[in-house]
Amino acid sequence: MFKVGIVGCGGVGSMHASCYEALEGVKLAAVASTDEQQLKEIGEKYKIKTYFSAKELIFDPELDIIDICLPTFLHTEYAIMAMEAGKNVFIEKPVCLTPEEADKLLDAQKRTGAKVQVGHAVRFWDEYVWLKNAVENKTYGNLISVNFTRLSPLPAWSWNDWFNDHTKSGSMALDMHIHDTDFIRYMMNAEPDSFKTFVTRTKAGVIDYISTSYNFGDVLISAEACWAMPGNFPFKCAFTARFEDATAVFDTDTLTVYKFDGSTEHPEMKNNLGSSADTGINVSNLGPYYNELKYFIDKLSANEPIEVASLEEAAASLKLVLNEIQSVGGVKI
Ligand SMILES: NC(=O)c1ccc[n+]([C@@H]2O[C@H](COP(=O)([O-])OP(=O)(O)OC[C@H]3O[C@@H](n4cnc5c(N)ncnc54)[C@H](O)[C@@H]3O)[C@@H](O)[C@H]2O)c1
Repeated sequence: MFKVGIVGCGGVGSMHASCYEALEGVKLAAVASTDEQQLKEIGEKYKIKTYFSAKELIFDPELDIIDICLPTFLHTEYAIMAMEAGKNVFIEKPVCLTPEEADKLLDAQKRTGAKVQVGHAVRFWDEYVWLKNAVENKTYGNLISVNFTRLSPLPAWSWNDWFNDHTKSGSMALDMHIHDTDFIRYMMNAEPDSFKTFVTRTKAGVIDYISTSYNFGDVLISAEACWAMPGNFPFKCAFTARFEDATAVFDTDTLTVYKFDGSTEHPEMKNNLGSSADTGINVSNLGPYYNELKYFIDKLSANEPIEVASLEEAAASLKLVLNEIQSVGGVKI
């Protein structure tokens, strides 16, 4: 039985705690947060150890796994500390903010032999897994094009409003758009031959909408993301995938396949934890978070390498998004 400690128990840390409770082979044993009220609530809810200091939790000898759910600008420091303390590490996405930080993380992984997975949950999201399978198996013939969409109001729940500070979050372009960019690389099992990016910016010059078109040979894939929607706008993640024989449309929770033979399919999805409307953050479904943590624990139990959402993959997706941002003049101009 692995014992896990979560560092940072805001929006995502709390969700991970629910997932660990539902998983076999792992026990949530401790949490750390700088928010005393949050710490008290989560400590009482799960009857576990609480730490005000991330460092103290990381060096707790009882823990085998450290799950880094801190604001992005703190990932590198504490993830390296955890690897050097001999722990296996789960790091939320985006894995870090710069290519230099990514290289330091990769170096620490190599030096310490730690097993590391990054929270690219879309790789474990049932409808997106279905899409990757349809592409690879040519279920509806060859893929022609896909359009991915991800729209949300600005995250309103964050500690010290860190999402709103592009030096801490990398802006929406890094924080949110990376979900689709990473999935596109995974689905195509390749880097794009070329890309073209367009953005809009706030009055302060920070990117608040991004649209990138990627070319993979003859296949055209585009992804748009925005977190400047009105506060009452419901979180939306969607795709429209055109194949030779059908078009598949996913819209937040419904997947439909319209075939050129005139028939319509509604592929069945398994649902491990069900939808959760009250996570408090902009996610509509706990299933992918359960699936990714299950994969991590299963790989650790079997002493097998992390292949899906590895640190190497997360670093490559980070570098592609940073290149897109660079191509339009940077996060802020
Ligand atoms: N995978 C996803 O779908 C998804 C969704 C949202 C956020 N995220 C990512 O997850 C990470 C966390 O985001 P969040 O929404 O949970 O943020 P949040 O602001 O809700 O939570 C951050 C937590 O970190 C704590 N914290 C800050 N500094 C600390 C320190 N030095 N020591 C200990 N605790 C500290 C805060 O008290 C808070 O509990 C970010 O990297 C974010 O991009 C991923």
